[in-house]
Amino acid sequence: MARYPLFIEGDAGTVIDQLSQVPGHRKKYSLIVTSPPYYKHRKYGDDVREMGRESSDSTFVERLIALFAKCRRLLRDDGSLWVVIGDSRRNYGKLLIPHRLTAGLVREGYILREDIIWYKRNYIASGSQINFSQAYEYVLFFSKCSSCFTNMDLIRTKGNEVKEGRNKEQPLNMLQFGPIHPDKKKIASVTKKIANWNATPTAESLPSTSDIASAYGYDPEKFCPTCYRKFKRHVTRNRIGEHKHYPIFAVCNSRGKNPGNVWDIATKAHHGNEHFAIFPEELVERIVKFATQKGDWVLDPFSGRGTTGIICKKLKRRFVGIDLYPHNVSLSKKNVQNAPAYDSD
Ligand SMILES: C[S@@+](CC[C@H](N)C(=O)[O-])C[C@H]1O[C@@H](n2cnc3c(N)ncnc32)[C@H](O)[C@@H]1O
Repeated sequence: MARYPLFIEGDAGTVIDQLSQVPGHRKKYSLIVTSPPYYKHRKYGDDVREMGRESSDSTFVERLIALFAKCRRLLRDDGSLWVVIGDSRRNYGKLLIPHRLTAGLVREGYILREDIIWYKRNYIASGSQINFSQAYEYVLFFSKCSSCFTNMDLIRTKGNEVKEGRNKEQPLNMLQFGPIHPDKKKIASVTKKIANWNATPTAESLPSTSDIASAYGYDPEKFCPTCYRKFKRHVTRNRIGEHKHYPIFAVCNSRGKNPGNVWDIATKAHHGNEHFAIFPEELVERIVKFATQKGDWVLDPFSGRGTTGIICKKLKRRFVGIDLYPHNVSLSKKNVQNAPAYDSD
């Protein structure tokens, strides 16, 4: 019986074909996440099957589309495919590789859920006088079907005020706006609702903005006690006043903000590897947490030095990785072996 995490040496297209012949692998994976080689950027070895060395960009894109189309058979119906990919240039012009890949995969039946911009804060500035430095890559998120497993709560981020160390106080202490006509009974009821507020509030269980405004009086310069955004912003969006159905706390989640679709994550080498194109653990961790549950199966068809495997070990997901080159397979095995195993969920 195969031992997991499993690293398979070979051409991703061929291995995916073989796996999809095995009934146990079909519809098994909750997540396929990978970063294929850039087109004509670097050479990983001498194997003619290496991706990114094709004679034309069209062949490269078609090869990627064919590979990910086969991957669809391996995904569970609620599973997702995430491709971290950058563009390349030829004769000054961008080749639109991420865009052509996206169009091709949508034709193959995938649903494009997000084209996230991964902003590399520490990008290397180019010496070019005519092009801007390449400071981002795409993180393309596709689902197999319309219903897709996600868990936003595990990847929420802190708002700027919190990051910058402002407004550190607990939500209850933030109820600081000076009431013009305070209504003690209403205040007590609003405070009780907030104090009993649990992590997954329903709209009915939460005080609405108008509850709060009428209990406390309303000072638009003050902050919402959970997200620390100024109430004024809600006013300018016409969300306050008689919009009784609009519970401010339903959008201001105590677990933090929805991270948005621009991800600011610095690139990093790790575990002493000099490797050229590993994706940062923080990026993969965010995807694995969002798209899978403990015990789920994850596949990376271009597993390189094993970053996805390292994160799967950490988060207790089961992992299969594929890479063309034996030295990458043995290094990634070693990296996963040496990585810590703990569960942060
Ligand atoms: C961008 S790197 C992936 C790095 C990986 N995300 C990590 O964090 O280490 C692309 C990988 O694809 C592998 N590769 C290239 N052509 C391949 C092919 N035809 N089949 C499988 N792997 C291939 C390369 O050896 C390289 O390790």
